Amino acid sequence: MRQYTDKKYIEATETKPHPILKKHMNAELEIISKVENSKEKTFIDLGAGHGRLTRPVAKIARNLISIEINKEMLPELNKRSSEFGNTRVIVRDFTKLSDILKTEDVKKPVLMLVQNTLGTVEGDWKKVLKEMKKVAEEYKGEIIISFFKQEALKTWGIELYSSISWMTGELDLDKTDFESGKFVSKTGYISKWRSRKEIEEIKEFFGGEIINEESSDNWIVLHIKP
Ligand SMILES: C[S@@+](CC[C@H](N)C(=O)[O-])C[C@H]1O[C@@H](n2cnc3c(N)ncnc32)[C@H](O)[C@@H]1O
Repeated sequence: MRQYTDKKYIEATETKPHPILKKHMNAELEIISKVENSKEKTFIDLGAGHGRLTRPVAKIARNLISIEINKEMLPELNKRSSEFGNTRVIVRDFTKLSDILKTEDVKKPVLMLVQNTLGTVEGDWKKVLKEMKKVAEEYKGEIIISFFKQEALKTWGIELYSSISWMTGELDLDKTDFESGKFVSKTGYISKWRSRKEIEEIKEFFGGEIINEESSDNWIVLHIKP
């Protein structure tokens, strides 16, 4: 992921998104826009990238904290964030989320881990889930999380990654494992797509209430109150 730049990411997600990816991103936005009393809440964008969500979220939020580890994403993320008075960019590793938030202005957080970011996380993905649950419980927050589905890797996945191979690198058939939903490219980009069972296990791990859910054969977006 670190070889990505904000410009490449803008092209893949905003200028020329794959139609199914576009539907997925619209579903995320739809769920985000339905968060109740959003003006009382701190939205936290985990792996904010180039700030695709910055503008729509800053407008509806009390405040927005964008956490991003890849410095190549910062020019556009900083630019979009600077358009608002209620945003903040933090260049850190979100596996240390509870630590990061200790010194931040956080009220009823809405933790957003979107666009299958859990599948491409730099670091221990289990730690990310633990930290999200811990923060959601401590601050009485909510979680919006999305996944690409393992069953779709063979179909939509192949199409998606071939349409953005200029960014991810070409499919490495020897290392990609459709059964476990693991995509690997020849340049070493890895993305884990999750099975129904794995998604159910994550829901159970968070516990609590599913506030909203949107899905297709290819992806799922969940809004959870642990
Ligand atoms: C799949 S991209 C999604 C970007 C953005 N959320 C969007 O939807 O357009 C995942 C992003 O998470 C960032 N990321 C991955 N692991 C991270 C970590 N441990 N801490 C902070 N950012 C991370 C990557 O650099 C990348 O920008």
